[in-house]
Amino acid sequence: MKDHGKIKVACVIGTRPEVIKMAPVIYELRRYPYYEVTLLCTAQHRELMDEMLTIFSLKPDIDLNIMKKDQSICTLTSELFAKIEPILKNKKYSLVIAQGDTTTTLVTAEVCFFNKIPFAHIEAGLRSYDFHQPFPEELNRVFTAKLATWHFAPSKEERSNLILEGIKNKRIFVSGNPVIDALYMLARNERKLPFKLPENKRVILVTIHRRENFGNPIKNIFSALNRLTEIFNDIVITYPVHPNPQVNKLAYEQLSHNSSIMLLEPLPYDAFVTLMNKSYLIMTDSGGLQEEAPALGKPVLVLRKKTERPLIIKLGLGRLVGTEIESIINNATDLLTDPMQYQAMAKHISPYGDGHAAEKIVNVISHYFLHGLQSVALRNESDQAF
Ligand code: UD1
Ligand code: UDP
Repeated sequence: MKDHGKIKVACVIGTRPEVIKMAPVIYELRRYPYYEVTLLCTAQHRELMDEMLTIFSLKPDIDLNIMKKDQSICTLTSELFAKIEPILKNKKYSLVIAQGDTTTTLVTAEVCFFNKIPFAHIEAGLRSYDFHQPFPEELNRVFTAKLATWHFAPSKEERSNLILEGIKNKRIFVSGNPVIDALYMLARNERKLPFKLPENKRVILVTIHRRENFGNPIKNIFSALNRLTEIFNDIVITYPVHPNPQVNKLAYEQLSHNSSIMLLEPLPYDAFVTLMNKSYLIMTDSGGLQEEAPALGKPVLVLRKKTERPLIIKLGLGRLVGTEIESIINNATDLLTDPMQYQAMAKHISPYGDGHAAEKIVNVISHYFLHGLQSVALRNESDQAF
C-alpha cells in the first residue's frame, strides 16, 4: 500500500446495467479501509440510473447529468469527453474502473489513456466479431480493450478472445461477471410486484432496446409477440419498455391494444429479478439478461442475429433466434409445447460467474497495490476460471 494515505479509486458508471454490475464492486472496495472510492456517474441514463442507485443504496459522489432525450452517440460522446476529463485529470486517481461496452465506458477508457491513468475494465473480452451487431457496443468494447491496463473477463472464453487480440495474458483475470453477484444478492428475497400477474398463465418476459433492432426488426418482434398471444391462450407477455423514444413509441403503437401483453414501466432490479424468477421463458436483445436467465434456470431466446455470449448458445441454455417473425414464433412454440426441449434449456447453469466476481476483482487490485505487479502475475497463473 502507498504509505501516504488512501488509494484513490474512481468507479465510473452511466447506465442502468452499469449500476447493477458496479454495485458489488463498490461494496467490496468499501470493505477495505485503504481505498477512497469515488462513484462518478455520467447519467448517460437519468431515471433508469437513478432508480438502480436507489435499489443498491448508492449515491453519486459526482453526477455529470449528461442525458438528453433521444441523444445521438456523437453528441453523447463529445459531452462525456468534455465533462469526464477535468475530473479524472484533476483528482489524481490511482485507478479508474468501468465495465462493459457503453459510450460512458469507452470515453472513460480514452480519457484515462490520454492522461496516463491506470484503467481497469470489467466484463472484458466479450466479442460478437461484428462492429454492427451490437451497435455500437462491439466497437466500444474492442477499443476499450486496447486502452485498458487490467482486463477482468467473465469466463475463459473472453480471456482467449483478448489474447487473440494481442492483450498480454498477465493483464487478464478471469473473475466472472459481477452482474451474477448482484443477481444472487437480490434473488434471495422475492419482492411484491407493482402489478398483478394473471393466474394460471405462463409468463413470458420480454425486453428490447438494441439500436440495430430499431425499425423493421422491432416491428417483426412485435408482430411475433402479437401472433404468439393468438396461438397460445395460456400465456401473458410482460414487457418493461425501455424509455428510448425509438422503442417506446412503437411498443405502445403496436402492442397496447393486446390484453395478453402487459406494457410496463422499467422495473427496479429487485422487482425485475422477481419477475424473471416467475417467468417461464425470457425473450430479449439485452446483454445482461443472456447471463441472468440461465443462472435462474430460465430458457432465453435471443432476439438478435449475433451474440457476444456464444457460450449460452453452445451450452444449450439459449437460442439465437434473430428477428424474423417465423423464427421467433417457431422457437417460442417449441418451448411452449415441448417439455423435453424446455427442460433441456432450463438447467440453472451460470457460465459467466459464480456470484463472487467482485471479491476476485478487488483481490487482484489489492494485490497489485499492496504487493506489486509480480504478485498479481502469480495470481493470474492460478486464478479460478469458469
Ligand atoms: C445504452 C448503451 C447500451 C446499453 C443500454 C442499457 C450506449 C451507446 N448504449 O443504450 O450499450 O445496453 O444503455 O440500457 O452506450 N432514456 C431516457 N431515460 C433513461 C435512459 C434513457 O429517457 O433513464 C432515453 C433517452 O431519450 C436517451 C435514450 O433513451 O437519449 C437512449 O439512451 P442511450 O444511453 O443513448 O442508449 P441506450 O439505448 O439506452
Ligand atoms: N433490468 C431491470 N429492469 C428492467 C429491465 C432490465 O432491472 O425493467 C436489468 C436486467 O436484469 C439487467 C440489466 O437491467 O441486469 C440489463 O439492462 P439492459 O438490457 O438495459 O442493458 P444491457 O444488459 O443490454 O447492456
